[in-house]
Amino acid sequence: MTVEARKRPSFTIWILAGIIVILAAALIGILLFLKNQPQPERGVAPIREIEPLDPDSQNWGINFPNQFSTLLKTKDNNSPTTFGGSAPISKLEADPRLVTLFAGYPFSIDYNEERGHMNALIDVRATKRVNETTAGTCYSCKSSNNPKLWSEMGMAKFDSTPFSELGKLIEQPIGCANCHEANTMNLVVTNPALEEALQARGKDWRTFTRQEMRTVVCANCHVEYYFAGEGKYLTYPWEKGTKIEEIVDYYEESGFKDWEYPGTGTPMLKAQHPEYELFTADSTHYKAGVACADCHMPYTRDGAAKFSSHNVHSPLLAPDAACGQCHTDVPLVVGRVATIQAQVNERMLAAEDALIDAINALKAAAAMPGVDEAKLDEARTLHRQAQMMWDFIAAENSMGFHNPQEALRILGKSTDLARQAQLLAVQAAGDTSILAKTP
Ligand code: HEC
Ligand code: HEC
Ligand code: HEC
Ligand code: HEC
Repeated sequence: MTVEARKRPSFTIWILAGIIVILAAALIGILLFLKNQPQPERGVAPIREIEPLDPDSQNWGINFPNQFSTLLKTKDNNSPTTFGGSAPISKLEADPRLVTLFAGYPFSIDYNEERGHMNALIDVRATKRVNETTAGTCYSCKSSNNPKLWSEMGMAKFDSTPFSELGKLIEQPIGCANCHEANTMNLVVTNPALEEALQARGKDWRTFTRQEMRTVVCANCHVEYYFAGEGKYLTYPWEKGTKIEEIVDYYEESGFKDWEYPGTGTPMLKAQHPEYELFTADSTHYKAGVACADCHMPYTRDGAAKFSSHNVHSPLLAPDAACGQCHTDVPLVVGRVATIQAQVNERMLAAEDALIDAINALKAAAAMPGVDEAKLDEARTLHRQAQMMWDFIAAENSMGFHNPQEALRILGKSTDLARQAQLLAVQAAGDTSILAKTP
């Protein structure tokens, strides 16, 4: 091979390299030109500035039509499931023991299965539990008008305003402003009572992870609470902790009662809807890092858009979406829900029977001349605690699914305390024949 022959290909390579450099420069030029063009309007970019705390979800919905339209669907959901769903079935008709257990309290008159978020305002206004003496506090978890009202008038004023008067300022059901900060769309704590409860536990939600917020945002409403003092100040009983024993201890110390049980003289407590407390009491899912929104607001597709379904309802109505993102065998886990709920329901009814026996023994003892008042008072304490523990699971809306072991443990403890109350009532009366006298 000659020297010239070796030189020829290297010359061709130089020409090729030159062409590539020119093409690359042209491409960079085109890209720079495109990048400096004005941004076209894209569906996901905010097209309308939302006023901070704007109560009207329709305004937010202009920017986020998928989230808005799925939220609207919660209005028309009406399918029941075995123990939940969205049909407003009367719990009192389904289980008449409740009429006895809540005697002397409005829950014995009207108590329905809950429905979707868009119905919150209609339902709170329709319930027979509400009357002229009702506190404004009852609106606390029903409306997207609240965050603005709380910031303008303060929660103390909000709570002490009578229900009917406060109602004039409230026109929206639950909406975007209950869970999101306008424009950033960050999840936020909007209920001052939750802010205060977390603070009392030394916690600041602003430091929480996004996954934690996907649970905590529900604690704006799905929690145990009570109305403290004359001003009916919305308060979460979390100072000692969020486990049932810590909550019962808190109430015992504060001496708070919701009502007095007729005939037994027991100061009673009513549990609200402690989904957050039961779920976070070391449930398997919570410990595995699963959030409320994972099951109740699964990601959904609408063409190319992927978004969180805001059609919050029973996951059993759409288990493929709710469970299928993590579990491969959906029928298997749905079957587990049925088994768990049947077991919890069975133990729940056993606790109710024990409570009713305790109530009857207490009533008979209280009517006996010469009853041992100190013993009777001890029996009343056990009655109150047993009912609160039962109610913590009965008023919680998952029939134990959110935390099966804890639900069964609490119901076992409730039954035990109720039977102890019954025995103590007999001892206080000093007469076992009161057991036979009970109706
Ligand atoms: C692992 C999935 C999962 C997680 C996580 C979860 N839930 Fe549930 N939830 C369920 C199932 C299943 C039911 C039972 C539904 C039924 O009986 O129809 C339920 C029931 C409910 C209900 C009653 C629904 C109805 O139709 O009556 C409410 C309210 C609720 N959950 C709120 C919450 C909140 C708040 C959290 C977080 C603190 C949470 N859930 C976490 C699966 C979950
Ligand atoms: C009950 C609480 C709640 C309400 C009410 C609510 N959201 Fe959400 N929203 C959430 C949660 C939880 C997520 C999931 C956030 C995450 O994963 O970071 C979310 C996510 C979003 C996102 C982020 C994208 C996505 O879909 O995951 C947007 C945007 C959004 N919501 C818009 C809205 C709009 C608009 C409204 C009112 C029409 C609204 N939301 C009402 C709780 C709520
Ligand atoms: C602003 C208060 C509020 C917030 C925040 C809130 N909820 Fe609710 N939720 C309610 C009320 C009130 C109802 C019952 C409405 C009715 O019965 O009319 C309800 C009902 C439900 C139901 C039952 C729906 C049905 O069709 O039976 C589920 C499930 C539920 N919420 C889950 C959640 C989850 C999960 C979160 C957090 C992502 C959340 N909620 C946040 C107040 C709230
Ligand atoms: C975000 C992921 C996720 C979602 C959504 C989810 N799960 Fe799970 N689930 C888990 C993890 C993680 C475990 C822990 C055990 C494991 O690794 O399988 C678990 C465990 C379980 C168990 C066994 C519980 C126990 O105590 O051993 C059941 C039953 C179950 N899930 C049912 C459901 C049902 C029903 C749904 C839908 C309503 C659901 N899960 C939704 C992640 C999820």
